[in-house]
Amino acid sequence: MHPEIDTPALLVDLDVVRANVTEMAKTAAAAGVRLRPHIKTHKIPELARLQLEAGATGITCAKLGEAEVMADAGIDDILLAFPVWGRPKLRRLAALRERARVRVSLDSPEVAAGLGRLGGPPVDVLVEVDTGQHRLGRPPGRPTADLVAEIAAVPGVEVVGLLTLAGHAYHARTPGELAETARREGADLVETAELCARDGIVLREISVGSTPTARHVAGVAGVTEIRPGTYIFNDTAMMRLGVATEETTAARILTTVVGRPTPERVVCDAGTKCLTSDGYGTPGWIRAAGLPYLHMNFLNEEHGVARLEPEHVGELPVGSRMQLIPSHACSVVNLFDTVYGVEDGEVITELHVAARGAVR
Ligand SMILES: Cc1ncc(COP(=O)(O)O)c(C=O)c1O
Repeated sequence: MHPEIDTPALLVDLDVVRANVTEMAKTAAAAGVRLRPHIKTHKIPELARLQLEAGATGITCAKLGEAEVMADAGIDDILLAFPVWGRPKLRRLAALRERARVRVSLDSPEVAAGLGRLGGPPVDVLVEVDTGQHRLGRPPGRPTADLVAEIAAVPGVEVVGLLTLAGHAYHARTPGELAETARREGADLVETAELCARDGIVLREISVGSTPTARHVAGVAGVTEIRPGTYIFNDTAMMRLGVATEETTAARILTTVVGRPTPERVVCDAGTKCLTSDGYGTPGWIRAAGLPYLHMNFLNEEHGVARLEPEHVGELPVGSRMQLIPSHACSVVNLFDTVYGVEDGEVITELHVAARGAVR
């Protein structure tokens, strides 16, 4: 299995990537909404370009550093889905605005005031709404409508819409619960925008959606934009939610078996340094592609320790290779400088993870 590559390594199946990108673009087009993928999953300008060529109208970034890398690559329509605060970042934002259309999400008049002092044309902002994750934002309805009015009064910014991430959808226990959370994600924002309109503030953008909710929320009347990110690679978290299968997961950690201390125990060279601790310990949080009878027991920093079911104890001698499907693709990609792109089972390209580590 890819003897030309030393392990551990991050592989990405480009055929699966293309299929995932196309499917989400079709979902957005069928619902009549724009697709603005979150690039935090791949952090690779070439893959952002692929998403744009497939129909995305812009991209979403969390960090200014990610946005700068994407603008360097010629991408000129960027949503910064994170409040930009403090002089150093505001200076960088001003420079970024010289070469790209940038809008920013926020949830306070304080952050809006900083943006308003940038000068130049008003900064387009989206007000973040808390639809149940309890991260940023006020609850939908009157609390958000009042916040929109406060922010709209700040000179130098223009409130163009509302934004939410229904992050609690990642904990949905049934497909029905997931669908209902997604429907509410859209409906909450649309109803809040109607309230704002009655207050005299017309909002044109309703920006919602993650990989688990995008396919449901895209169809809610009034939604204008979806922002899924993980869908390009998928991971075991998406498999658990029923929105991905092993076949639609594109990112794999190629790892070598380095120890077989007991008949059932398999120790490989991929630990938390490759796979992170995200999802740690949940059954099925790390899966071995094509090996449903191998169960990851635990990870140390350098070691992955797994167990074989009794009827398979003779398999996977020292030196064998496996491909592990991560629990959280986005944070795994952040750990690698290079992604090996695979097509028809062959490594055909090396992609530089240009926006990795962009914490600021
Ligand atoms: C603001 C925002 N939008 C969109 C996304 C994309 O969600 P997902 O990776 O589940 O597709 C995220 C993920 O963290 C996010 O924080």
